[in-house]
Amino acid sequence: MKHLKGAQVVGVGKCLPQKILTNHDLETMVETSDDWISERTGIRQRHVISGSETVSTMAVAAARQAMEMAAIGPMDLDLIIMGSFTADHKLPAGACMVQAELGAKRAGAFDINSACTGFIYSLLTAAQFVKSGTCKYVLVLGSDATSTVLDWTDRNTCVLFGDGASALVLKQTEDTGVGILSQFMCTDGTGMCNLWIPNGGSRWPLTEKNIGDNRHFVSMSGKEVYRFAINALVESSHNVLAQEGLTCKDIALMVPHQANARIIQSAANRLELLDEQVYINIDRYGNTVGASVGLALCDAWHEGRIKENDKLLVVGFGAGLSWGATLIHWSLK
Ligand code: ACO
Repeated sequence: MKHLKGAQVVGVGKCLPQKILTNHDLETMVETSDDWISERTGIRQRHVISGSETVSTMAVAAARQAMEMAAIGPMDLDLIIMGSFTADHKLPAGACMVQAELGAKRAGAFDINSACTGFIYSLLTAAQFVKSGTCKYVLVLGSDATSTVLDWTDRNTCVLFGDGASALVLKQTEDTGVGILSQFMCTDGTGMCNLWIPNGGSRWPLTEKNIGDNRHFVSMSGKEVYRFAINALVESSHNVLAQEGLTCKDIALMVPHQANARIIQSAANRLELLDEQVYINIDRYGNTVGASVGLALCDAWHEGRIKENDKLLVVGFGAGLSWGATLIHWSLK
């Protein structure tokens, strides 16, 4: 599809809660071990919110960093899109609280609920508004506090996730060759029960009985999600590369959703990517869901793993089941 404008990435930011929960801390909470968690997932620690920290306070802090890097103020923003499934309140969307706190008085704001694919779906949606010429600056956020919807007695899930937020600023440019290039997204709702929170929505509202059922926490079929995830990363990557007539050899860095280091490594092997072409930071944060992909981009940039004119393969998967990818031509000029 021909686009009128380019959508350039001009800022990234992140925020992690103060409190750190290590694998050793978890050993005192459920029957698990540091060895099991780090060998099966690559995770060593994660951050969890406490005190006055919420999804919106983290998102605001990440947004401010990204806007500072982009050298823009709140009144420059035309739109705020936040990938999140754990907004501060059921209503309104978390992006509205961010908009108010930033004082982005000209901006529209809404959330995208795609769990771990949330950052990618938010980015792809933002790109449409920028490339069509509708918006000049869009703030893309991913922020989740999955710690608030975990059953902390369930070792199958509670060891995997962490809280955090990430942000990215997209800017309209005349150059369609930089920023967001090809894009891909796909969903298979028949797999929804492999990763869901059954109770608490309109089907099974939070009545006394439904709370008693103890099904208002994240529930996951780990093995099914594992198999799906590797295929999703590979399919999405092939798709966006083919659209641009590129191969994995052209990619400076794959920046994948951080759910499990073994998932990333298996996908990278199938794509024949070298270790130096793959970014992994799950050891520090666990799976931060909506924040994960943006957090990886932000850290990769600050660690010098991304250089001017690099082609980045940004790819993810999550509840839905959903998956998607984009190629980014990184240029800050
Ligand atoms: N500590 C110790 N033992 C554990 C733990 C734990 N925390 N969790 C499970 N086990 C046990 C199991 O009970 C099982 O024991 P058994 O053999 O006696 O029955 C054994 O370890 C092996 O369990 P498996 O499920 O086979 O372990 P596996 O190697 O598949 O790893 C894992 C489990 C890490 C969950 C993996 O399946 C996975 O990463 N799946 C994908 C998860 C994912 O990506 N989720 C995020 C999706 S994105 C989103 O939108 C939220």
